[in-house]
Amino acid sequence: QDPTRQKLVEAHELAVKFYHYFLNNARQGEKAKRYLRDRGMSDKLIDQFMIGYAPDDWDVLTKFLMGRGFDPVLLEQGGLISAKNDGSGYVDRFRGRIMFPLYDANGKASAFAARIVDEGSPKYLNSPESRLFVKSRTLYNLHLAKAAIRKRKQVVLFEGYMDVIKAWQAGVDNGIATMGTALTEEHCSMMRRHAEEVLLCYDGDDAGQAAAFKNIPLLEAAGLKVVMAVLPKGKDPDDYISEYGPDSFLREVIDSPVSVTKFKLIYSRKNHILLKEEGRKNYLMEAVAIVAGVESSTEREVYLKELSREFDISLDALKQDCHGMRLELQ
Ligand code: UTP
Ligand code: MN
Ligand code: MN
Ligand code: MN
Ligand code: MN
Repeated sequence: QDPTRQKLVEAHELAVKFYHYFLNNARQGEKAKRYLRDRGMSDKLIDQFMIGYAPDDWDVLTKFLMGRGFDPVLLEQGGLISAKNDGSGYVDRFRGRIMFPLYDANGKASAFAARIVDEGSPKYLNSPESRLFVKSRTLYNLHLAKAAIRKRKQVVLFEGYMDVIKAWQAGVDNGIATMGTALTEEHCSMMRRHAEEVLLCYDGDDAGQAAAFKNIPLLEAAGLKVVMAVLPKGKDPDDYISEYGPDSFLREVIDSPVSVTKFKLIYSRKNHILLKEEGRKNYLMEAVAIVAGVESSTEREVYLKELSREFDISLDALKQDCHGMRLELQ
């Protein structure tokens, strides 16, 4: 084992405890604590995920860790502290932010995601990559969710840390997230190692949908079966849980997934005004194009029948158009 790596893990574990203590006990942490409570996070949850608060001071963590003999050069490489511009010493890297510890698959603290209290930009700051922290290989909460993922043979992939945590509180014990929406082949093969199926549960806004469409082929290429959660327009899982409660989230979102094709149809539909003839026509053509991409002819017929019934168009006409589009695809 690499001894400097081991040292850096130790420093991170201490920093996790330091920030967590600060959130719970320091006067400075009260505002952050209130903010988390207002967002529906219980003390138990804050403990489980070891959420913390970085004091809004220059060098509290720096002094704490250096006082325990840690080499500042190593701490800087690990992204816990920064060298001052004039070379006269070091300062804390994270200040006045809510701290989410990030762990590797073995549960070793390896980095932080730091959220601003309330609104502001940048919303999240992540630790820089280091010998401990490689974003393309980090899945948030994998160490806690691994056993449940294996048992269920399913992983739920969220977009944000908050979604994972709030869903966990609602009872989703197999939820993970990437560092944002950048999904890599490595992430996919890590998931495939434990699961057969992925339930993709991205935000119900345009960015989340675009990311979902971009990531579906990657997940499928890794041999994962992909099913989709459907969220109301503009809501992310954490909004949904705050607004409608955990039971509704489990029932309506997690336990009611749809196929990728159905998901595409639902989103295409939301983008057209079906009360107008033009909108109906455009939606139908787009819908038929989506169905044309489906490999199984039985499945194609199921979707076309639904469209035929709803829009009162003959199944034959839809089939003909669909067939034409399939020829174009080849
Ligand atoms: P979102 O903007 O959807 O954040 O970004 P969120 O998870 O809903 O956060 P809350 O609920 O406002 O606290 C999704 C993910 O993208 C990454 C983070 O991983 C975040 O969880 N992200 C977002 C960043 O890394 N930096 C940012 O400034 C914003
Ligand atoms: Mn605690
Ligand atoms: Mn988002
Ligand atoms: Mn979000
Ligand atoms: Mn959110």
